[in-house]
Amino acid sequence: MAAQINPSILSADFARLAEEAKAVEGADWLHVDVMDNHFVPNLTLGTPVVESLARATDIPLDCHLMMEDPDRWAPQYVEAGASSVTFHVEAAHAPIRLAREIRAKGARAAMALKPATPIESYEDILPELDMLLIMTVEPGFGGQAFLDITLPKIRRTRELIARHGLEMWLQVDGGVSAETIERCAEAGADVFVAGSAVYGAKDPAEAVRVLRAQADR
Ligand code: DX5
Ligand code: ZN
Repeated sequence: MAAQINPSILSADFARLAEEAKAVEGADWLHVDVMDNHFVPNLTLGTPVVESLARATDIPLDCHLMMEDPDRWAPQYVEAGASSVTFHVEAAHAPIRLAREIRAKGARAAMALKPATPIESYEDILPELDMLLIMTVEPGFGGQAFLDITLPKIRRTRELIARHGLEMWLQVDGGVSAETIERCAEAGADVFVAGSAVYGAKDPAEAVRVLRAQADR
């Protein structure tokens, strides 16, 4: 699969989200970081903003829920217009049931792992998912430095996906930039979230093209 680039609106201007979505035309997905100030020490947005954004752009929304009790909230993000919903396995009470519910509601189901969470415990769940997100920083803030120690886990996860013959996507999120994206791609990631590397650039749409070309190299 060609590399997919998902700009994270966490680094965009929240008062101009519709324009910021237009600024990355050509991006595969728009990454929407939902933070609840409990699972992570930061607070961002909820379903009303997702609803408005879904109406304002044709780019499909990839909602990354950094919140407690995703079992209760994730389905509401599908209803709000998200085409992909990612919950954290560290917070989910019943990840299999939750993944099935997200899929049944018509969105892609994804599960995220923090940097210190091992993939091996979750091997059996992989067929229930459309995407796995391996965090390459501790979740909570944009603009953090990429954690190289996550690369072996990306590699092991890619091997597990191949061994099980699955079609699922492998996403990385945190510190992805022109300096780090090739390492992630080489390790086996195929979906790349980039916040500051896209919205911190003079021309965000061009930054998306450059990142995609680097990942595909
Ligand atoms: C961090 C968020 C990321 C964040 C990435 O917890 O999940 O999506 O926006 O920002 P950068 O690309 O700047 O590291
Ligand atoms: Zn994210």
